[in-house]
Amino acid sequence: MDDKISVMFSEQELDKRIRELGKQISDDYAGQSIHMVCVLKGASTFACELAKRITVPVYFDFIKVSSYGNDTISSGNIKISKDVDDDVEGDNVLIIEDIIDTGKTLASLMELFKERNPKSLKLAVLLDKPDRRVTPVNVDYTCFVIPDQFVVGFGLDYAQKYRNLPYVGIVEQ
Ligand code: IMP
Ligand code: MG
Repeated sequence: MDDKISVMFSEQELDKRIRELGKQISDDYAGQSIHMVCVLKGASTFACELAKRITVPVYFDFIKVSSYGNDTISSGNIKISKDVDDDVEGDNVLIIEDIIDTGKTLASLMELFKERNPKSLKLAVLLDKPDRRVTPVNVDYTCFVIPDQFVVGFGLDYAQKYRNLPYVGIVEQ
C-alpha cells in the first residue's frame, strides 16, 4: 500500500552539506545578525537544521505563500497567507526555501522583500532544479542541484505527504 521511495540524499549527506552551508553563511555574516524568513511549510525542516549550524545570531520568522491554482504548477502570482511577524527594514534578510523550480514563486517573493528595504537580501535553498527555471532568480546558497525529478521528504511533500521523511527521495511510480 505504501509508495516505494528511493533515496536521493540520505540523512547523513544532508547533515554534512547543511553544516558546510551553515559555516559559509556564518563566515559571510560575521559580526552581524540574520533575520531568517522560512517559507512555510516546505522549508521548515531545512530552516531549523540550517539555523542550528549558524553561529551568528538568528531571528526566526515565517511566511506562508500560496501560488494561485494547482499546487504542483506554479503561477508566479503569489498570495501571502501568513506574513512575517516583524518589520525587516534595515535587517539582513535571508529567505529560506525548500526548492527552486520554475522560480516564479521566489521571484515574486524576493521582489516583495526588496520593497521592504532590508539592509541585505539573500536566498538559501535546499534544492535547485535549474532545468525547470522560467523566471531567473539569484540564489545565494544552494545545498544540492538536482535534475528535473519530483522529490519528497525533509519538508518537501507530495499532496501533503512525506514531509517527515528524514531524507530526500523520489516516489517510484
Ligand atoms: P516554483 O519555483 O515557483 O516553481 O515553485 C517552487 C515550489 O514548488 C516549492 O516551494 C515546492 O512547494 C514546489 N515544488 C517544486 N518542485 C517540487 C518537488 O520536486 N517536490 C515537492 N515540491 C516541489
Ligand atoms: Mg511548497
